[in-house]
Amino acid sequence: MIRTWRGLPGRMLRTIVATRGAVVAPLGAGWESDLTAIRETRRRVPMLLSDAAALQILIAVRAARRRGGAMAEAGVFRGGSARLICHAKGDAPLHLFDVFETLQAGATQDPSAGETLVREHFGAVHGARARVEALLAPYPGVHVHAGVFPDTAAAVASERFGFVHLDLDLPGATRAALAFFHPRLLPGAILIGDDYEDRQVREVFGAFFADRPDAVIELPWGQVMVVSQG
Ligand SMILES: C[S@@+](CC[C@H](N)C(=O)[O-])C[C@H]1O[C@@H](n2cnc3c(N)ncnc32)[C@H](O)[C@@H]1O
Repeated sequence: MIRTWRGLPGRMLRTIVATRGAVVAPLGAGWESDLTAIRETRRRVPMLLSDAAALQILIAVRAARRRGGAMAEAGVFRGGSARLICHAKGDAPLHLFDVFETLQAGATQDPSAGETLVREHFGAVHGARARVEALLAPYPGVHVHAGVFPDTAAAVASERFGFVHLDLDLPGATRAALAFFHPRLLPGAILIGDDYEDRQVREVFGAFFADRPDAVIELPWGQVMVVSQG
């Protein structure tokens, strides 16, 4: 539970909340606009992220802006977390990857393994590209790449990235995304992975970074944050 809190009732409240596996963290007045951005995003679209995870994205995007480069999100759904990235990214280009409704027309003749897995896992539950574009229309430099990742990644093969958010749910797609984005991260770039409480996703990160020098920081709300060593 994260909220701004003035006149904090104190130890008793923290103790009760802690027994339920949560924390009370009073935020300074300067953070009110981030909480407003999270609340406003939730009003517009369903977002599975907790407030803490949403706040972490805003913080990381703001820090990563200093690195320069483009930003990316793989796993967009209805665009909630993408809107948060937009809120903090400034003028940086943002590349968004999701199948959206591209699979709903029926299976392709020779579906890739990735396509089959996405179909099996998500069924017909996908965000609509046009709605995500409308949601993000107020923000500059947003590029939507609809289709199965990493088949769609070729369009940004020459980019370097300062911030990447991976929220694909599936271990295979997460592995492919790490393989694609990691060599394209600028030194000091930040990559946030969701679904880190999932054993298979955690194993993907563990295997990928076992012999790499990047800082891999587990966060207590189901995310992992990687700071690239370049
Ligand atoms: C958990 S949702 C993303 C939620 C979103 N980040 C948010 O916070 O609102 C996961 C998304 O990943 C997409 N996805 C999973 N595997 C994919 C793949 N290989 N290629 C493209 N999209 C994929 C699904 O279509 C789904 O919309």
